[in-house]
Amino acid sequence: MLLRLLALGNSVELIYFARSRTEAAYINKLEKLNVKITWHFDDEKAGSAPNLQDYLKWHDKNIHLYCCGPSAMIDAFENACLKLGYQNVHLERFVAKKTGTTVVAHDYVVELAKSGMILDVPAGASLLEVLENAGVLVNSACREGICGACETRVLAGEPDHKDSVLSPRQKAANNVMMVCVSGCKGDKLVLDL
Ligand code: FES
Repeated sequence: MLLRLLALGNSVELIYFARSRTEAAYINKLEKLNVKITWHFDDEKAGSAPNLQDYLKWHDKNIHLYCCGPSAMIDAFENACLKLGYQNVHLERFVAKKTGTTVVAHDYVVELAKSGMILDVPAGASLLEVLENAGVLVNSACREGICGACETRVLAGEPDHKDSVLSPRQKAANNVMMVCVSGCKGDKLVLDL
């Protein structure tokens, strides 16, 4: 991601956290890049875990922040960004975030704008599976709300977001949803399918 952003000519800064320098990957490669890198190795800081707010608070509130790492660190990063008022936060998780129930507790209807199909989604059913059973082609990979493959445009209705992909701002906008884990807060969704 860093190389891609640099290739596109974006201004990029990397903050790299690890327990120790010996446990950190890609150090030699990263040090050769023409990019500002802030290192934090716990064992060089008397074993202290980083205070993420201290590392993140200096930036413009409109920048885009990307984070990848273990779940506990991503949760801490997400909380720090929330407290600091950053809206454009992008997370790459390898394990789905615990968001409470992943099944929708009521029946609802989905209208597919392109085909005109109207599908009933029973309480507890996966929207992705309802679409697949109706023969609607939707990309998918993880089926746990962490990869983004099943992102689908929402034309009307209020999704019940259960994924670990979209930022708080994207979730609030309700323009897209991950149909593998998310459902509907109301009675009906209209999707761009
Ligand atoms: S299939 Fe991965 S987020 Fe839905």
